[in-house]
Amino acid sequence: MAEAGKTRFQINLRHFLRERDVDRNLTRVICEIADASKYIVNSIRTGDLGVAGTSNLYGEEQLALDVLSDRILRKRLAHSGVVANIVSEEQPEIVPLSPDCEGKFSVAYDPLDGSSLVDVNLAVGTIVSIYAGCDLLQPGCNQAAAMYILYGPRTTLVLSTGDGVHEFNMNQLMEYTLTRENIQVGASGSIYSPGGQRNKYTAGVRSFVEQLEARGSKLRYSGGFVPDINQVLMKGKGIFFYPHLNDTPEGKLRVLFELNPMAFLMEQAGGAASNGKSRILDMVPDNIDMRAPVFIGSKDEVALAERCIAEQG
Ligand code: AHG
Ligand code: MN
Ligand code: MN
Repeated sequence: MAEAGKTRFQINLRHFLRERDVDRNLTRVICEIADASKYIVNSIRTGDLGVAGTSNLYGEEQLALDVLSDRILRKRLAHSGVVANIVSEEQPEIVPLSPDCEGKFSVAYDPLDGSSLVDVNLAVGTIVSIYAGCDLLQPGCNQAAAMYILYGPRTTLVLSTGDGVHEFNMNQLMEYTLTRENIQVGASGSIYSPGGQRNKYTAGVRSFVEQLEARGSKLRYSGGFVPDINQVLMKGKGIFFYPHLNDTPEGKLRVLFELNPMAFLMEQAGGAASNGKSRILDMVPDNIDMRAPVFIGSKDEVALAERCIAEQG
């Protein structure tokens, strides 16, 4: 129940996790990340938008904001005292923080997804995947929690510890308070969010898009994975996809940092997440930079994508 005198939707993140009896150390990790987001949102609003003069292991030029956001998160996670290993989209390998695994958690994160959108003032986000123990190369179905922070007109934090999906809003005191509980995604929807270049779509993906449009689905694509997924979750319907393309059969998005956390959240909300053939959360990552095609959102539309790909590639 809510604290005496507080309505459900004034409950802050820490109270919510205590009320749901979430493991103390996991609560610690989640709250450290929430705290880190205060510094990240400030750096986005006021920070240096230039390039950092370095690149990540994908050969992508890092922006100052990528490097700064990564450093903020790494310091907070190290400071928490309950994190064993971390791996970041912006770092070439796993960073060990503690030798023992007992009772600790390991974290994979994309510190600032869509960072190149900041200088055109579009929404960006932080994506986080949390496992119990030391192993970060586990299938996504083993996640203890997944969350993202969306730096948009409002700063919101969307989280699941395996007990439903819940949204929190950063208030004027920069504290996160509950705004939506047990978010649900229906079986089919009216928006589709198509990533990648359409002239490189396979026959199966083209057929899938044609069928969505025939049903009256409307195109909604910002180019930012976090706002695009958030739109499907908060509208409670629709599908995002960044498919296999004729010249990149693995698509673009990364399993550890982007697909596993979003797939966990989407399934917790009653949706589905597939690589076009099978469940994202069943994939066993063979290395930290593994990529996969993704079709994620309303169940019926993910199933339709799989049928089109099975029939036409
Ligand atoms: P990141 O900025 O972390 O590299 O991720 C960007 C991703 C994701 O936000 C989005 O879905 C995708 O790039 C968009 O790719 P395109 O620009 O090829 O559409
Ligand atoms: Mn990313
Ligand atoms: Mn990124």
